Amino acid sequence: MDNITLDTKEMESYKQLDEIILKYKKTNGMLIYILKKAQDIFGYLSIPIQSHISEKMDIPISTINGVVSFYSLFSQEPTGKYTISVCLGTACYVKGAADILEAIKEELGLDVGETTPNHLFTLKSTRCIGACGLAPVITINDDVYGRLSPSDIPSIIHKYTKNM
Ligand code: FES
Repeated sequence: MDNITLDTKEMESYKQLDEIILKYKKTNGMLIYILKKAQDIFGYLSIPIQSHISEKMDIPISTINGVVSFYSLFSQEPTGKYTISVCLGTACYVKGAADILEAIKEELGLDVGETTPNHLFTLKSTRCIGACGLAPVITINDDVYGRLSPSDIPSIIHKYTKNM
């Protein structure tokens, strides 16, 4: 990171990350944990952050990026305050998840992977989250909403916008 001018907050964030890497790099199977911690610190995993982790852990950037791209848990772009994840697993799909996703897209004017201009919401799709009995299911950060119909969407979104 030597050629890039970092502000104090970023420097502090990289310092925190380096401490975590130092602590866990020798333990097998800790890459996902370290990436998760890095995302908690920075809010997302940009290419410079991935490349820093690659350098410090002696793991090729292609491997790091492969893991980051594979898991929907990780984001390579800054995300909104609230991440809406729409489950498109089989049980949710047969119960109308596609219509739920459409309703959210329409309500927020977003496509999957996008963030609202005010950085309040990011829309994602996800595989089964293990709550099939509640299908179709969405999560908004840690909140879970199930047995949804498209008409439920505006009031759910409103809960998160009303205190703006
Ligand atoms: S398929 Fe959606 S929770 Fe399992």
